[in-house]
Amino acid sequence: MKIHRLTSQTILPELPKLSALLQDAVTHGASVGFLLPLSNKETLAYWQDVAKAIEDPSRILLIAKADDELAGTVQLDMSARANGSHRAEVAKLMVHTSFRKQGIAQTLINAIEVEARSAGRTTLILDMREGDPSEALYTKLGYVRAGVIPEYAKSTDGKLHSTVFMYKLLK
Ligand SMILES: CC(C)(COP(=O)(O)OP(=O)(O)OC[C@H]1O[C@@H](n2cnc3c(N)ncnc32)[C@H](O)[C@@H]1OP(=O)(O)O)[C@@H](O)C(=O)NCCC(=O)NCCS
Repeated sequence: MKIHRLTSQTILPELPKLSALLQDAVTHGASVGFLLPLSNKETLAYWQDVAKAIEDPSRILLIAKADDELAGTVQLDMSARANGSHRAEVAKLMVHTSFRKQGIAQTLINAIEVEARSAGRTTLILDMREGDPSEALYTKLGYVRAGVIPEYAKSTDGKLHSTVFMYKLLK
């Protein structure tokens, strides 16, 4: 498995696969900001926005490829605030259902932490639906639960769920 950092150019051939990855995650109930039904037009539009965002160094997009297949992805969104120049949000971690439980998410997070460190971002924040597998994953990787907000977001079935906020201070 290989991790690649995509640019606004190298993302272009990956757009259909990234769209399919997002569709796969949401169809299988992931809470990553989208509700069902989710059209290909919406998923493609999302990744086209990401393609624009990564023109700026404040957004990093990594993908994991296994046997030349797109297996997973994660992003780092660096705070633009003057008082947050050491801070970044880890976002949109997704591993395709056919590649889960092989350590790919763990490898992606390790790689995004290397990117964060080299960009001088040492306070990492993120959030997820309470009780999701990602909570166990991030806890295993040393992220600390800061708190929970009830009724924060909607799940794909439209029901409101609690969201956990976590952080990690990189040494
Ligand atoms: C969460 C997700 C990214 C995990 O991807 P993955 O590649 O299967 O995870 P890994 O194989 O790297 O797992 C690493 C650790 O995470 C935890 N973990 C992963 N999947 C888990 C599950 N289904 N249940 C409980 N713990 C889980 C375990 O601690 C695991 O370590 P272990 O294998 O030693 O037990 C994947 O399930 C996914 O894409 N989910 C949908 C999208 C999503 O919810 N993203 C997170 C947004 S915050």
